[in-house]
Formats: sequence, structure tokens, C-alpha cells
Amino acid sequence: MARTRAVSEYVCQACAAAFPKWEGQCRGCSAWNSLVETLVHAPQRRPASGEGRHPSPAARAAEPRLLGSLDAVATTRRPTGLAEVDRLLGGGLVLGSLLLLGGEPGIGKSTLALQVAGALAAGAPGPGKEGDAGVAAGDRAPCHVLYASAEESPAQLHLRASRLGLTTGPASTALSVLAGTDVEAIIAAATALRPWLLVVDSIQTVSVDDLDGPPGSVGQVRESAARLGAFAREHAVPVLLVGHVTKDGSLAGPRTLEHLVDAVLMLDGDRYASLRLLRALKNRHGSTEEVGVMEMTPDGLREVRDTAAAFLGHGSRSAPGVAVAAVLEGSRTLLVEVQALVAPAGFGPPRRTVAGLDVNRLVLLIAVLARRGGVDVSSRDVYASLTGGITVSEPALDLPLALAVAASQRDRAIAGDLLACGEVSLLGEIRPVPGLERRLREAARLGFRRALVPEDAGLGARQAMALGLEVRRVATLRQSLDLALEATGTSG
Ligand code: TYD
Ligand code: MG
Repeated sequence: MARTRAVSEYVCQACAAAFPKWEGQCRGCSAWNSLVETLVHAPQRRPASGEGRHPSPAARAAEPRLLGSLDAVATTRRPTGLAEVDRLLGGGLVLGSLLLLGGEPGIGKSTLALQVAGALAAGAPGPGKEGDAGVAAGDRAPCHVLYASAEESPAQLHLRASRLGLTTGPASTALSVLAGTDVEAIIAAATALRPWLLVVDSIQTVSVDDLDGPPGSVGQVRESAARLGAFAREHAVPVLLVGHVTKDGSLAGPRTLEHLVDAVLMLDGDRYASLRLLRALKNRHGSTEEVGVMEMTPDGLREVRDTAAAFLGHGSRSAPGVAVAAVLEGSRTLLVEVQALVAPAGFGPPRRTVAGLDVNRLVLLIAVLARRGGVDVSSRDVYASLTGGITVSEPALDLPLALAVAASQRDRAIAGDLLACGEVSLLGEIRPVPGLERRLREAARLGFRRALVPEDAGLGARQAMALGLEVRRVATLRQSLDLALEATGTSG
């Protein structure tokens, strides 16, 4: 059957003006780069009057239904078998949901997606055992997972799969691979297979035939995702899209994708280090509080046992300019090392360079240190970073960061068994942070013996004793500096 090609036009995202060709600037509202290729849907032909008074199927579906009469299909979950991913998703993949796995190139998205597909294929029971309300058992091939790869050839995929141990064992007979970039072909294959999960790697490399734009253009990405989402809902199949993220942290092209999908998972970390954080930026079927911690090994991503200690450096902390902070990520407490280096400035304005930290917070703390702490580094270069490739923007990091900067400036080491927790106000006061007891408990478990905590943190003396830490309450930044820096000698 010959398919007539749909018509597309370029619609301005700012003023909705439509043009037949792409232009750099909208002639309607003068906005730059705002035209997105969009499919033109011909208006549906209405039946002639009296031809039939039955409502169309779409109109029937739009009838309101009572909340109590809705079935629970939408929340039927299918655990993947990868503990960290399941925890993040709130128990497993929701049938018919559309998920986006984002991250920088080379961070491990394809590896994780293939591991999820492999784990699901390996652990899935035979047909009919799962009891899915939305999928009639027996009307499809025995448990299958479909991995559509538009980026890698089957040979490359095989190589990766063999590193992950998927080419032998149960996954090898339940995981199918499809190479190709045509969305309609992927959907056709998935419709025939009715898989337990469809992975599309990546959404920026697939395209639909009806649009002229290249794969990765906003129009293509949006239309491809919309069709895959419609497939997911219609067949109650979870669909996982892999998407690249640009340097500045936004999902390249598919920024608009974020509200099209049910969940956005972001794989984060330093691609040259081994630790990876998996965060849910959005989750319609669960919380966005949780975080998964994994490690990239020669045979794939592995769960990290002791997450609290994972980001703590293994070296000695006796060098001037290191402080330890406890940060909360969902229900987990992670201990991280804050490092700072204060150096003579070159020409021009002094540099403020950060890795894993908020540069504005550093600038603010430098000002507070100068005015309220008696440590003036305003005319010097200041570098600050978190170890392990983690990125944190939590107020509880203020005090350790300020201490690390001051320690570097004064060339004094902070004791290696000291933990500092607290937000620093513009007036140089140390303000309370949530979950203090959780942070201290984790620090005590990892061998820390002393802690600087905000004075009005609501931590009772008995509680502090029970934690096994010597807790020092501090009200001001100056007081904290005295306790953290003066108590220890200069470094050797
Ligand atoms: P990849 O998943 O291809 O990243 P992305 O899809 O996000 O672009 O893999 C990233 C890196 O991980 C790659 O440089 C090789 C490395 N790697 C491992 O260290 N161990 C493994 O088992 C695999 C499969 C990859
Ligand atoms: Mg990839």
C-alpha cells in the first residue's frame, strides 16, 4: 500500500506563525531559532448529516469515569531486576509509561539501558505468570525485551553485551536487538513482538519519514517521542528512550521531551572517574527524592554497597584545604570531601572556579569570609571542588566549603576526623540544616569523631552523646573557624 507523505511546516514556538521552509528568524515576531518542523494534520472528514449518529471511538474514550471505577493498570509495575533502578522508579517499570534516560555522551547510558534490558530479559518469568492486568498472557511471544539501537551496529552491541555477560544465559534468548533509525519500523517490530520493554537508543538518532528535518532536530525528536509514547500507552509496554545531554546540562534538542515523558532519569558523574549517580528529575509514578549510586566496572555498572563512603577520598585529609561534608540525597546520606585552593591571582579579575559546586555560593561565601570571618581572599584566585565527580547544591555544604577556603588561605589543615554541617548566612551566622542526626550518625559510622553543628539545630545533648561524636555547637562563622583551624597545628 503506497503511503502518502504527510505535509510538514515550520511553526514558530514563540508566536505560532507557520512557514513552509525553515528560517533562522521568525518573520512574525523576530525571534531567532524558534521555528520547529511540525506535522500538519489534515482536518478529519465529518460524516454527512444523518449518515450515522454513533460517536467516534475517540469521542467514546473521552467520556468521564468515576475515580473509584478506574482500574489499576497504570500502576502495575514490572521490576527490572536492577536494584538501584527499581528503587529509583519506585518499584519497577510502570506498564505503558514512557521514560527518558539522559546523560552526557560516554557516561554509560547505553550500558545502563542494555543492563536494564538484560536483567529484565534474564529474570522475567514465562508467559502468563506475571499476571499483568493490561496484557493478555499468551497472545505474544514468550517474554521478550526489544532493544532498538540507532547508534550502534549489531556487532558493536554484541561486543558490549558480551562484556555485560548477556550473550550467554537466559538473557541471550529473551533479548532481541533491532538496528535501524526509522521510528515506524521500530514500532512495527515492537507491535509484532509485544515486548516487556522497548529501549530506543537514542531518541536523537531516530527519525520519522514524514518530516524533512534531520534526526536530532526538535521536530523529529518531539514527533518520534510522541509516536513511541502513543505506542507505549496503546500496548501497555514500557518504553525507555535514551537521550544525550549537552554540556550545560539541558537535554539536547528534546528539552520539550521532558513534559512528554512520564519519568526523566539522569545519569550523572565524572566520565573519567568510576562513580555514577542516577537521579530522577521527574517521576509521575514515584518520588524524585531517591538517588542510585553505581560504579562503572569493566563488566558494566555495579551497585555500590557503602554509598555513604563512596565519595570520600581514600587519601589522607591532612592537607590544608580539605573539609568533609555530609549531604542528603533522598533517603541516603553521602559523605563528600570539599577541596579548596587559594592561590595568588594573575592579571585581571581573580578567578572563581568550581567543580561539582555552585559558583555563586562560593562567591557569596568569599564575601562573608572577608567581612565576618576575618579571612580575606577576595583578591586571590579560589578553586573549589567536590571529590568523586558528584554535583551538590545543598546549603549544608556552606560551612565545610567556607572552612576549606579558609584552611587553604591560612595553610592550616582541618582535623581528618572532623565533620562540618551548616548553612552560612550573609551575617556570618551558622544556620540549621535538615536531617542533622542522620548526617551525624553516618559520619560516626565511618569513623568521624568530632562534628561542628549549628547551635540551634535542635540536637539534644543526650542525642549527641548517643551518636558517639564529640559535637561542638557553633553560632557564627568566626567561631567555627577558630574551632576548626586553631585547634589543629599547621600542616607539616
Ligand atoms: P556508553 O554506555 O556507550 O555511554 P553512552 O551511551 O552514555 O554514550 O559507555 C560509556 C563508557 O563506559 C565507555 O567509554 C566504555 C565504558 N564501559 C565500561 O567501563 N565497562 C563496560 O562494561 C562497558 C560496557 C562500558
Ligand atoms: Mg550510547
